[in-house]
Amino acid sequence: MSNGQVPERESFTTTLGVLAATLGSAVGLGNIWKFPSMTGQNGGAAFVFVYLICVAVIGIPLMISEFIIGRRANANNVGAFEKLAPATPWYLTGVAGVAAAFLIMFFYTDVAGWVYSYAFKGLTGGLTHASSTQTADIFSKYTGSVVGPLAWQWIVLVVISVVIIAGVTKGIERMTKTLLPVLFVLLLLCDVRALTLPGAMAGVEYLFKPDFAKITAPVILAALGLAFFKLSVGMGAMTTYGSYMGKKVNIPSNAIKVALADTLVSLLAGLAIFPAVFAFGFKPDAGPSLLFITIPAVFQTMPFGQVFMTMFFLLAAIAATGAMISLLEVPVAYFTEEKHWSRPTATIFSAGVMGVVGSLATLSTSTLSKTLVFGKTFFDLFDFASSNILLPIGGILICLFVGWKLGPVAAVDEASNGGTLRNATSLKVLIILIRYVAPIAILLVLLNGLGIVKI
Ligand code: PHE
Repeated sequence: MSNGQVPERESFTTTLGVLAATLGSAVGLGNIWKFPSMTGQNGGAAFVFVYLICVAVIGIPLMISEFIIGRRANANNVGAFEKLAPATPWYLTGVAGVAAAFLIMFFYTDVAGWVYSYAFKGLTGGLTHASSTQTADIFSKYTGSVVGPLAWQWIVLVVISVVIIAGVTKGIERMTKTLLPVLFVLLLLCDVRALTLPGAMAGVEYLFKPDFAKITAPVILAALGLAFFKLSVGMGAMTTYGSYMGKKVNIPSNAIKVALADTLVSLLAGLAIFPAVFAFGFKPDAGPSLLFITIPAVFQTMPFGQVFMTMFFLLAAIAATGAMISLLEVPVAYFTEEKHWSRPTATIFSAGVMGVVGSLATLSTSTLSKTLVFGKTFFDLFDFASSNILLPIGGILICLFVGWKLGPVAAVDEASNGGTLRNATSLKVLIILIRYVAPIAILLVLLNGLGIVKI
């Protein structure tokens, strides 16, 4: 920052670092908590099928679009739109993204707190020999109390703040690069355990044998919302990370790798959960509590259950942490670059707001359980409004921006590294997806799922 010059922006240092950070953002509670519980509630394989289509046709083009915006502008989520489309209202797309980051964090830090506390319980033997009624009891006692969940939510916020204050290279890149392999290994161990249980096949079928009669408009919207949430798109996390990418990074290839690896993690999480659930005669449709009531009960009934359960919650905690880091980085990049705050100030302020307003979500299962807004608890409201409304709307705007405002020439230039990547044919398909297919599909699904139009 010498000579009064603008400080140089930090960036990711290696291709592997880029992949680790972006995959670390995508992999999170979405894979381990939302994907299995939503699959269980929406009828199994048919939901998975719709989800996979959403990822391929909408998720990947959108992630590429965000990387394009971020790297081309080399700026935070709001500054990027201001740079690429000066003196237009497009910057509001960036502002909406920053707002979405807060909204998601309000409830995400709550669930992450549950996961941290369960990992801790596992390590200290707090869940040993609990039957399913006991695990249900433990969970409702925990979420029904005030101090514990709030304390864990703040612990989570402190952990990610430390990483964010350490910076893009020393914090985000180093952390994700170290922890992702650990997550994969732990997940694979859980899979081997679940799949070798007698009766495991019922769970595998549940995940892979679709019953297409189960596909309805709200199911499609739910699958689309999950695809957005899962791939961290529609709100600027990937735009922000794109801005830390060097000019040599192959943007489309990185996006496809992230989408494939992330989907693999979701399926592996499903394969660790459903076979075990079926093998021990539990129901797959427990919803959000699947992870916290059913899973501990299932693990208790198997040999070395305590060990595997602890591993499972540790891997969930690792996944949640990588995702939250990217969510916190969105406002932090915005405040440091646009408002010229220091990184620690921006981090402490953002995390503080997330903790204070996020307590409304946390208390939704205790003192505020009867306080409903639009018929939903704060927790459900934050979740629904972000995944099913803000992210899809953000997604439409981002596609329109890259496809029409920035335009195909600039988009192709950025996605082919100035023509050096020789991926012209696939980029033609990509441009059609970004300009027409994705925005129209998102709009239709959104209006249908909300019941505004019926097709
Ligand atoms: N993709 C993350 C998950 O699956 C959540 C997330 C959403 C992260 C949006 C960043 C932005 O848990």
